[in-house]
Amino acid sequence: MNILIMRDYNEISRQAALLVAASIALKPNLVLGLPTGRTPIRMYKELVVIYKNGFVNFSDVVTFNIDEYIGLPRENPNSFYSYMHNNFFRHINIKKENIHIPNGMAKDIKKECVRYENLIRKKGPIDLMILGIGYNGHIGFNEPSDEFIPETHVEVLTERTRMANSRYFGSLAKVPSEAITMGLGTIMHSKKIILLASGRDKAETILRAVKGNITPRFPASILRLHRDCTFILDRDAAGLIKKK
Ligand code: PGA
Repeated sequence: MNILIMRDYNEISRQAALLVAASIALKPNLVLGLPTGRTPIRMYKELVVIYKNGFVNFSDVVTFNIDEYIGLPRENPNSFYSYMHNNFFRHINIKKENIHIPNGMAKDIKKECVRYENLIRKKGPIDLMILGIGYNGHIGFNEPSDEFIPETHVEVLTERTRMANSRYFGSLAKVPSEAITMGLGTIMHSKKIILLASGRDKAETILRAVKGNITPRFPASILRLHRDCTFILDRDAAGLIKKK
């Protein structure tokens, strides 16, 4: 695993955006795995700027979002569908048919998981996967568990995750209790993985991911087994690994 430590949030965002743009320049039909959350927002902003300046073309790029809440309609501002369109897709020239996000409103959620997994297999593997990390070590919505779950599946969200995300919903009660997420096998099959983390509040999490046991109790720890995974961290998020 590689670790890149940069000055601050703006720098890691710019670095990640440049990496995505360079990957598209090398492979115009790149298959890209995408996260939501607070951390990647600036990376998306930077990518939109790079696009508007004419330096990247998304017309053949294929995207797969990692996860989506169950039971939130697309138009709900807190759905990941809304997040992705508002922060990224509506500002760039990606084709609608090349955008893939799990459907958290599907009548048969189990079937939806199988459909999504098969689609990734058909169009994938994912060339470049961008990840955030939750305080409890989750990646996507793969929460701490007794086992690593390989494929796209339904995840019951932990109280900690729901608390962290309640800042968007106004109250804990409004945060959905379940989500569809790519599994850890799907994520690990990506050719290249970049994990972004920023801020002092992520320092303990990063320490565990980098130095703790590899265990499904801390899902991000599995990334240490990937052959091309880079953590791009700002100084605050890297604060505890630097000292040890
Ligand atoms: P954050 O979320 O970027 O909002 O901290 C990361 C995550 O929960 O995966």
